[in-house]
Amino acid sequence: MKTLLSGGTVVTATDLYRGDVLIEDEKIAAVAMPGGLTPEGGQIPVDRTIDASGKYIIPGGIDVHTHLDMPFGGTTSADDFESGTVAAAHGGTTSVVDFAIQYRGQTLRHALDTWTKKAEGKAAIDYGFHMIVTELTDSVEGEMDALVREGVTSFKLFMAYPGVFMLDDGSIFRALLRTRENGGTICMHAENGGVIDVLVKRALAEGKTAPKYHALTRPARAEGEATYRAIALAEMAGVPIYIVHLSAAEALEMVTEARDRGLPAYAETCPQYLFLSYDNYEEPDFSGAKYVMSPPLRPKETQDRLWRGLAGSDLQAVSTDHCPFCMKEQKELGRGDFSKIPNGAPGIETRMSLVFDGGVRTGKIGLNRFVELTSTSPAKIFGLFPRKGTVAPGSDADLVVFDPNKKQKLSAKTLHMKVDYNPYEGREVTGAAETVLSRGKVIVEKGRFVGKAGAGSFLKRSPRS
Ligand code: URP
Ligand code: ZN
Ligand code: ZN
Repeated sequence: MKTLLSGGTVVTATDLYRGDVLIEDEKIAAVAMPGGLTPEGGQIPVDRTIDASGKYIIPGGIDVHTHLDMPFGGTTSADDFESGTVAAAHGGTTSVVDFAIQYRGQTLRHALDTWTKKAEGKAAIDYGFHMIVTELTDSVEGEMDALVREGVTSFKLFMAYPGVFMLDDGSIFRALLRTRENGGTICMHAENGGVIDVLVKRALAEGKTAPKYHALTRPARAEGEATYRAIALAEMAGVPIYIVHLSAAEALEMVTEARDRGLPAYAETCPQYLFLSYDNYEEPDFSGAKYVMSPPLRPKETQDRLWRGLAGSDLQAVSTDHCPFCMKEQKELGRGDFSKIPNGAPGIETRMSLVFDGGVRTGKIGLNRFVELTSTSPAKIFGLFPRKGTVAPGSDADLVVFDPNKKQKLSAKTLHMKVDYNPYEGREVTGAAETVLSRGKVIVEKGRFVGKAGAGSFLKRSPRS
């Protein structure tokens, strides 16, 4: 099966040129200047030609932070691997790396088997797993090595949620040391869980139960402190570290300081921290619950700091932390007690358009950087490059024909995520995925999903070299 994407502008993390892309089966076979693939002025024999004129041809988005079908806070995230990956595809994302969870007393193997069952036969795009480690015994350390060999090469640890997910510093340090040997990468949820726990209990005792107290009991400094500690522990262990869902200027300063010293400290932020702010918690009634996530939304001024971090090299990726809970029956669990509102928000479908509209169109980041932050850099950090994350011969034909002029009004009514609200409801964005290919197959065409649930494959990722 041969497909030609013709007449578009190819954008990678480093290049931007008018070009044609030839796909043979699942792979990119050739990339050439317009007409360069046409033999002797004749027609290249292809099964299908997709006209990309006036559009960008970019590598499919890679979202390395999703929570599909995840039990959390007494309920389960609203998108499973089918609805979540179909929504991702609509938004121009062709790979996700989701989080499997080891619950206390369980093995990593059990967690991986459980999450594999959730994804198999359902995922419409390729998927990999990080492993959340909540209890580190000697045998779990051994399992970490086995997982890395099997392509689950990253582990998320929590410095927050005491009694549920949180690990002590000693365990974190041991896990970091283990990744020095096995080539894995530690991803850190950096918030000081002990401090937050005290603040939450005090707030509730004072009758402060509204959603905004979720944010007011999770100070930016608690994120800054934990980010500093995480980086310091990684420095002592002599390994890289990746800070997930960085939201606070105080945390960014810690990453910047570490990187200025030449340390391999990496961090992602998420669209919600670039486009929403603490003010959203002040929305009337219980609406603030829509934005209850951890870390919480920060003051509006933080947004510019994060964009500057993305434009320079202090932040390396924009992922979503897609963890959707409906207002009805899910977020409502926390009416009268903000600490019972399930933490998380939807975003898997809107990431590419939001970052393009709010980043590229405003001049905050360039086109190449847009591709780098949403695809290439996560592919490199998480062992998927060059199979994923670029437009080059030999790479998987995960490609997006991206229309920079297409306007869209974001709304829960028209988006495909299975959640009854959207945090960006009514926001107009310009720039959207028009045609999406996953390993050579068209899966989204003119806004319609034409792929197949179950067509996505497990991504065996490479360890750090
Ligand atoms: O609020 C959030 N972020 N929910 C998902 C779990 C996590 O910590 O990433
Ligand atoms: Zn987290
Ligand atoms: Zn998360």
